[in-house]
Amino acid sequence: MAHSSDMISEDIVQYLKEHEQKSLLRFITCGSVDDGKSTLIGRLLYESKLLFEDQLEAVEAESKKYGTQGDNIDFALLVDGLAAEREQGITIDVAYRFFSTDKRKFIVADTPGHEQYTRNMVTGASTADVAILMVDARRGILTQTRRHSYLVSLIGIRHIVVAINKMDLVDYSEITFNKIKEEYTEFAKQIGIEQITFIPMSALAGDNITEPSNNMNWYHGTTLMGYLETVQVDDERMQNTPFRMAVQWVNRPNLDFRGFSGQIASGIIKPGDKIRTLPSGKESTISAISTYDGELQQAVAGQSVTLTLNDEIDISRGDMITSATEPASIGKQFETTVIWMHEEALLPGRTYLMQVGAKTVAATVTEIKYQVNVNTMEHLAAKKLELNGIGECNISLDQDIAFDAYKDNRDTGSFILIDRMTNNTVGAGLINFALRRSTNITVQHTQVTKEVRSTQKHQKPGVIWLTGLSGSGKSTIADLVEQKLLAAGHHTYLLDGDNVRHGLNKDLGFTDQDRVENIRRISEVAKLMVDAGLIVITSFISPFRAERQMARDMVGDDEFIEIFVNTPLEVAEDRDVKGLYKKARRGELKNFTGIDSPYEEPQNAELDLKTVELTPEEAADNVIALLKEKAII
Ligand code: ADX
Repeated sequence: MAHSSDMISEDIVQYLKEHEQKSLLRFITCGSVDDGKSTLIGRLLYESKLLFEDQLEAVEAESKKYGTQGDNIDFALLVDGLAAEREQGITIDVAYRFFSTDKRKFIVADTPGHEQYTRNMVTGASTADVAILMVDARRGILTQTRRHSYLVSLIGIRHIVVAINKMDLVDYSEITFNKIKEEYTEFAKQIGIEQITFIPMSALAGDNITEPSNNMNWYHGTTLMGYLETVQVDDERMQNTPFRMAVQWVNRPNLDFRGFSGQIASGIIKPGDKIRTLPSGKESTISAISTYDGELQQAVAGQSVTLTLNDEIDISRGDMITSATEPASIGKQFETTVIWMHEEALLPGRTYLMQVGAKTVAATVTEIKYQVNVNTMEHLAAKKLELNGIGECNISLDQDIAFDAYKDNRDTGSFILIDRMTNNTVGAGLINFALRRSTNITVQHTQVTKEVRSTQKHQKPGVIWLTGLSGSGKSTIADLVEQKLLAAGHHTYLLDGDNVRHGLNKDLGFTDQDRVENIRRISEVAKLMVDAGLIVITSFISPFRAERQMARDMVGDDEFIEIFVNTPLEVAEDRDVKGLYKKARRGELKNFTGIDSPYEEPQNAELDLKTVELTPEEAADNVIALLKEKAII
């Protein structure tokens, strides 16, 4: 094959053709600049006599302009990778570089080792087949090497190269190489890394990069490039994994055609193959595989296709089509490993959105079993997960999903967590296994229903949710509202912060995570009381939008009225009925709302009570008027 760059200028059609047929290897380099990482990447690019990104862009532009290749060339792989992250709303510092040799195409994710290392590494590693861990021969295995190894093994990269670099600076010593090799092998056992290739090299001098080094005749293994060109890539492996495809959309151009489109995550599919759709469990056979370029007799992992089936079965976006003989599993509660990527900590009890495959469901971390210290591998107790934290977490979903354990399938066993209020990606996770309790608990249907109970009480049940600062007047207004409802013959119950904290929630304090749990329990109780047919009034600071939204979602929009008891901090502090603001100002009370703990004002409460302009009596009357207007009473 001719020199790539020459060929591009002389015979681009031929170049593109040869290029297209080469397999693609994605790898990640871990280490710091000091370890020679940049030099190594630079050398790989240089030695492959390759193509720099700007040259590639030029090729792409040219091929579009002259239209000789249509959409054939796979440049999108690079662009797609970046676009996907942009969609997820993470700002990431990962540089992707593209190069190729006669044998293969490569994308290397270059992740800076500093600061937000976890997030960067996880992003770079999530699609990588191979990880190159850079070790400075003079310094040996460092804490950083261990940390990177742990992350890489967590992400499930199966091929690890320990690049023992700067051998020229240790006189190409075999003893030094063996010492590092032994030490690393011992460590790797602990975290379950199996396939390790050790290569002594000098990125600067060019030893064992593309040519076997004359300076280390004691080494008989592969060069780095030799390794990268021949190691089996995951795309190949994924074809040997059972068939999985998440349905991205149901393609129904007319009444006669109903296709299910998506990208094949794993396996191979042919017309006639038996499939099972999940979570419904319905089975059928493939009638045809369509693509933009026509029908296929076979499609494999990585391809985007539209499948048609021989039976009319109900499949919606987000469902998974799997092999019928080796189907994926179904579950609702899982033990997972979560990698937190946001400045605002993960709080157990808070509801997030989980995106798994093409499906988005509501998810709550019910328990953080432990957090891992990524420098020492120690397990630590944790009440929340801060930025870059990694923890084993139990997660509960609001509905069943189809999944595989991450160790069996990186695609169908991984997920991202999204903040419901901002839509930002805040975490990534791996499914370890489903918790049995999810399958052993069913819903009992009873004869006496919410409707029966509320009809008996001649009322529409609902929740009147008061939120506002401490001392804003919530309890006073709530008390008046309840008296007025009672006088009008309604059946009510008032849940008040201070009171509930003496009983049900006496184990909770005022940290963010405790407040989340406080409101979660209150929401559940309020929901039960609505089910009992009652009009429930709640009076809690409930400082976070996320939990107020959760309460609303739990009860239902039509039975939930949020009322902002809007008292400015200065006014509440001035009143200071309980003397708590003074205590907080003196530093005797930590995490006090409005002082050193946040209050997120409602953005679209049904009612905004400006208590500075209203007497408590008037405020309560306004609430009653709203209930009448909404036909609740
Ligand atoms: S919430 O934030 O979790 O919704 P909740 O309404 O249950 O709070 O409890 C607030 C009440 O607890 C306040 O009215 C006040 O009397 C008392 N309190 C004690 N410590 C604090 C604190 N650090 N922050 C806010 N309220 C506190």
